[in-house]
Amino acid sequence: MKHEYSIKYANEGYAVIKNYLNDQTKNLLFNHTLLKRQVSRYMWKEKQKLFSPYMYGYPFGDVQVKGSYCHYSDPIFESLLYSSTKDMSNYTNKKLHPTYTYYRVYEPGAVMKEHVDRDSCKHSMTLCLGYTDKVWPIYLEGTPINLEPGDLLVYRGDKLKHWRDPLPSGYHSQVFLHYIEEGAENWERDKFDTRPLLMLDGRFKTWSDKGLPTDKNIMEYLKQSEYDYNKIHNNR
Ligand SMILES: [Fe+2]
Repeated sequence: MKHEYSIKYANEGYAVIKNYLNDQTKNLLFNHTLLKRQVSRYMWKEKQKLFSPYMYGYPFGDVQVKGSYCHYSDPIFESLLYSSTKDMSNYTNKKLHPTYTYYRVYEPGAVMKEHVDRDSCKHSMTLCLGYTDKVWPIYLEGTPINLEPGDLLVYRGDKLKHWRDPLPSGYHSQVFLHYIEEGAENWERDKFDTRPLLMLDGRFKTWSDKGLPTDKNIMEYLKQSEYDYNKIHNNR
């Protein structure tokens, strides 16, 4: 008999699994994301010459969600991605292969505009790790989904338009774990998000539809994002 979640996933493109993470794990991961954010901002401010977004993430966010700390391929989450492959294959009733992970610590005013995801994100898990104020819905084709810490949403990120309204207050930590189906178009290229192995950082990617950034591009982006962040923060 098919898993109840896989029926919903097949029919509606998503399913919610309550309490996927236990209290100890979700607290561990929530604190990990908050500490990484602190370290990233400290390193950028105090030791800019040694700063690498591959190790410390983007202290002032990315182009998709400006001002909210984010990190690609953190080892702890790449490990969670790998170890969740069997569960994710069961929830979707597909033979899946891990691609990559990403997380954000959303700050007040953070906006995630309506979008669909790129090729490496055909089957995705997103987990709420924790928040400091109130539950903050993600919308899938207009349907609000409220995830409490430890709750998991599996969804077709490439098919269902998704977004969030601006975060009214507090912090909200969320991780994204992405998979592709074995045998699907370009899956050999997209497995591990075009890296040779999980846990390797973005410098090991061999392909991107937007081209891979140079170190100079990255440094310019970091400086601009800090400037933008300070401008908004000082005007609050
Ligand atoms: Fe997305």
